[in-house]
Order: sequence, then C-alpha cells, then structure tokens
Amino acid sequence: MSETREVPSASEVLLKRAAELDAADELAARRELFALDDDSVYLDGNSLGALPRHVPALVQDVVARQWGELRIRSWTEGGWWTAPERIGDRIAPLVGAGPGRIVVGDSTSVNVFKAVVAAARLAGEGRDELLVDALTFPSDGYIAESAARMTGLRLVPVSPADLRGAAGPRTAAALVNHVDFRTGRLHDLPGITAALHDAGALAIWDVCHSAGALPVGLDEHGVDLAVGCTYKYLNGGPGSPAFLYVSECHQAAFDSPLPGWTSHADPFGMTPEYAAADGATRGRVGTPDILSMLALEAALDVWEGVSLEVLRAKSLALTDFFLRCVEAYAPADRVSSLTPVPHAERGSQVALRCAEAPAVMAELITRGVIGDLRRPDVLRFGFTPLYVGFRDAERAARVLGEVLAKVPAGGPADVSADVPGPAGDILA
Ligand SMILES: Cc1ncc(COP(=O)(O)O)c(C=O)c1O
Repeated sequence: MSETREVPSASEVLLKRAAELDAADELAARRELFALDDDSVYLDGNSLGALPRHVPALVQDVVARQWGELRIRSWTEGGWWTAPERIGDRIAPLVGAGPGRIVVGDSTSVNVFKAVVAAARLAGEGRDELLVDALTFPSDGYIAESAARMTGLRLVPVSPADLRGAAGPRTAAALVNHVDFRTGRLHDLPGITAALHDAGALAIWDVCHSAGALPVGLDEHGVDLAVGCTYKYLNGGPGSPAFLYVSECHQAAFDSPLPGWTSHADPFGMTPEYAAADGATRGRVGTPDILSMLALEAALDVWEGVSLEVLRAKSLALTDFFLRCVEAYAPADRVSSLTPVPHAERGSQVALRCAEAPAVMAELITRGVIGDLRRPDVLRFGFTPLYVGFRDAERAARVLGEVLAKVPAGGPADVSADVPGPAGDILA
C-alpha cells in the first residue's frame, strides 16, 4: 500500500527556507539595535534608514547637557568643532577610505557642486567637457549642468554602460552614480574609474546608494572625489549631513568653490584673505549642523564589528531570495524586475516594473509592507542587511502577490479614492 505524501505548497517551502536563512544569518542580532516593529516590513532603508534605538538618548544629551548646560564650551570641550572630520573618519572604513579623506557636512547636492567645480579646476589645459551619468539622480544632473556652465565646461550625458569608452583628451571629469537610484543597478566603479584615468580624466562618484550597503573601495580603486548621503544605509536620520571624499593625491590642490570660514587654515584669525586648511577640511563651508551631525555619529555605532563582506553576502542573498519569492507569488505578466540578476551589477535594492505601481504601493503600505514608488511604474524595495531578514523578504513578496490579486491589471494606475495619503512617493 503506497502512502500519499502531501506536496508542500510554495509558501511552505519558502517560509521554511526563510527560517533556515534567518537562523544562519550572522547579522540577525543587529536588528535588535533598531527601533522596528514586527507589524510591518521596512524596505525603505534605501530612502530613510531606521532609527538606532540608542540615538534618542544621545540627542537628548546633546540638547539638554551639551547645549543646555555647557553651551558655547561644547564647541571646544565637547568636540563640536571637529565633528565633521571626526565623523568623516568613522564613515571612512565603510567606503574604503583612509583617515583624513572624508569631511561630513551639507547635503549631497551641495557636495556634488563642490566636487564638480573642484574637478573642473583640477583638470588639465584643454579639458572642457564634463561627462555625466545620463540616468543620474536628478539633483546631480541639475547641479552638474549649472557647475559646467559656471566653469565653461560642456556637459555630455552618457549612459553608464558607455562611460568606459566615452572619455577622451577633452574630458575633464565624469560624475557617475555607483548604484542607480531607480533600478538598483550597480555600476563598475573600478573599471569606469580606470578608463577615465586612462583618458586623463577625473572620476567623481555618487555613493549615496552604496555607502553602508556594499564595499565601495574609494582608495583602492583610485577614485578622485566622491559624495554620499548618510540618511539611507548609514541610518543618520532625516536630513542628516552628507559627506565629501577628497583623495589624498588631490587634497593639496583641491580648490573649493564654497570656501567658507570653517575651511580656513585659521578660522578664528578672521582675516580678509582666504587660506585653505589642509586635507578634507577644505570641503567644509559654514557652521556644522551639530544636532544632526551628532545623531549621525551615534548612529554609526551600529557598525561596530560588522564585516563589509558579510554585509554584502547577506544583501545579495536577501535580494536573490526576494526575487525568488516574487517569482513564486506574483504573476509574471504583472511585475518584471529592473534589477540586474548578476551579482556584480546589483546594489541592495530590487525595483519591479508594474503598470499599476502607484495603487499597488499604496496598498502594500496599508498592509504593512513599506517600500516606495518611482513614478510612473517602478516599485522599489530596499534591503538593509543590518535589519531586514529573510522572513521579511518572503512576507513582502507574499503580500505583493495578494495586492496584485486585489488591484486589477489595467485598472487605474493611480491611487484609488479609497486609498488616502501619498503612495510611497517619497525621498530617493
Ligand atoms: C543618488 C542620490 N544623489 C543625490 C541625492 C540628493 O541628496 P540630498 O537631498 O541630500 O542633496 C540623492 C537623494 O536621495 C540620491 O539618492
């Protein structure tokens, strides 16, 4: 007599696999460091990283004691004045930079401006062309256009896939995104940087979507200048200050277009003539935003003892597993992945094209799966290895399948009247 064996359902198989992967996850315990709840799945850390639990107490100390009691003394005794360089040195190992090469402050947009103008000033005679990643985050493109106009450069948009062959004797520099904010495609930083250098041009990288998500290797790959934000995978908080990297070989000649007093060699000398400080300090402008900056400094504690190789392996395993779950739960004619399958071309997010993306994302958020939307038709899901687990990935894909069953194909692409509020149309 033959026994009838029940074939496990796709969801049973995937849930079992998720539990195994979570059990083997070296980073699983890090999740406890963050203020997260089990009612929702937070897949928007590529936009705004989650709050590390210990940060509010630190911010309370900065406000109540450092500001409230020590007042002006905190600039010196409390180390406020040197925070931009000190925190830069904390970020440095996360992006493969040595000490003294990163300064924290301003927004990424402002740092793009400093980097592009400084690169134009560093470029050799006869180099009058600035290449810009044609798919760039818009702010970088707008600022590159303005900076090019100010410095007499011609702006040439180039698809990152063509960047290697695009630089020539007239190229001053190229501004490139390490990870495409829309698709999650990882660009070949070592190869593109080497090709730019072969042509005598400088490489400026925007590492907003790779800092804290994967190894970047700024020093190792000879990147000239780089910018990045700290509110995504570095969990610095809303609007936390960005950073500027200036490679060692350019520090002595780095000529900032915003030479504010805090980048002066003797800021309290208050002299009418400008004399640049040494090192990355040249990238400073005005008074640092201490509350945000010190919240960021505290947030960086969660990286203590984290190996970037382990982080990268988990990130790839998470996005692989999520794509597998999407394949199992979501009809192939409703969603298609824009995120490359090869690991060498993938950041730490998955982007799915879906004709009804606004309505689908609004419903996902209502059901506790927090991703975001890039209009008109891209669903984005960010996988922050420090706090996202494999069961989260399974749940998100399963809920996506349920939502697709509810939101009709060819139905209104936009948020329906019964789904109030923004449809995940939030910061990049
Ligand atoms: C890739 C990239 N570059 C630049 C920016 C602009 O950053 P900020 O608003 O800090 O200037 C963003 C914002 O999300 C981004 O994702």
